[in-house]
Amino acid sequence: MAFKTLDDIGGDLTGKVVLVRVDLNMPMADGAVTDLTRAEAVAPTILELADKGAKVLLLAHFGRPKGARNSTMSLSMVQGAVEEVLGREVMFIPELAGPVAAQAIDILRPGDVGLLENTRFWPGEEANDIELARSIAVNADLYVNDAFSAAHRAHASTHALAQLLPAYAGRSMEAELKALDAALGNPEKPVAAVVGGAKVSTKLAVLEHLVGRVQHLIIGGGMANTFLAARGVDVGKSLCEHDLAAKAEAIMDAADASGCIVHLPYDVVVAKEFAANPASLRTCNVHEVAADEMILDVGPQATVALGDVLKTCRTLVWNGPLGAFEIPPFDTATVALARTAAALSKEGSLVSVAGGGDTVAALNHAGVAGDFSYVSTAGGAFLEWMEGRELPGVAALTA
Ligand code: 3PG
Repeated sequence: MAFKTLDDIGGDLTGKVVLVRVDLNMPMADGAVTDLTRAEAVAPTILELADKGAKVLLLAHFGRPKGARNSTMSLSMVQGAVEEVLGREVMFIPELAGPVAAQAIDILRPGDVGLLENTRFWPGEEANDIELARSIAVNADLYVNDAFSAAHRAHASTHALAQLLPAYAGRSMEAELKALDAALGNPEKPVAAVVGGAKVSTKLAVLEHLVGRVQHLIIGGGMANTFLAARGVDVGKSLCEHDLAAKAEAIMDAADASGCIVHLPYDVVVAKEFAANPASLRTCNVHEVAADEMILDVGPQATVALGDVLKTCRTLVWNGPLGAFEIPPFDTATVALARTAAALSKEGSLVSVAGGGDTVAALNHAGVAGDFSYVSTAGGAFLEWMEGRELPGVAALTA
């Protein structure tokens, strides 16, 4: 995958206006950002450009205001958080383009950072309107995209702008693309994928894509029940999309045809109620689930076996937990397998890439996010990448 990085920017950047598309769509409570991860991820790019004397103009969306100004989604709300992470002042500019923006950019000195207003206040953003992009580009010299997590959107700030200015991947985008390429683009084989989560319906395209690319497909979470039911297992009261049995069978057939082994749990942790440490908790063979029980986690024997599978693999891509990990003890299999993957990654035998909101939370809960080779904080973009789709924001950089 060929794309230009900050290393390819030639010449003196002093006083040059560099538009940097970042993802500052961070969770907030009581007016304060509660998780700074996304600001932290883009800080190296911003600081590198600013330290080279550029006037750095941050371009981002916040929420889904649907093309109209909305004071509850103004990017001024994250200005303080960005300043905290960067350790320097950021000038908030309440426009995207036009004379007010031009004047503010003029006031910025080399090395200063400006934050433009929420791109989604303008309808042209989601329409990928080249005229909106032109009105922004006219104030700038270069464009850098450091927002992989927004790259699945073909919007003016992620796509059209890259056609109008010399375009580069920022450091976070660069790391993300390299890690994803190592996991599914050009991976070392054998490759294992762990796909978990509640519903098969949200991950059908992911599974369909993966069976042709990985040697081991480990299915966990509620979605495993749909596959078990398709194989004739009585899953009791478990979450299960019975109407997707034919799709599940088709995925298993496609896996067989391409030499991909699908791993479903053969022992499971069940309970009659979905509560922490319920009295009805027990472990059983997958064929012994009672009519009033729910499967809530992969059982201990299957978890050990899955760990053994990972020991034979060189690459792992992981999206979604194996059980109902928010409630103990249904986090057990996810934590155990995540720790095995982390240990293998640390000793250098496994390249492990994980992504998606739930997955990051699960790995943090297991205390091993830092030991994976790469953890992506992207949600929708990570899933679309796992589906094998071309992401417009990435395509615009690699064109
Ligand atoms: C995200 O939060 O996943 C990204 O910022 C993309 O947001 P969107 O789903 O509103 O496009």
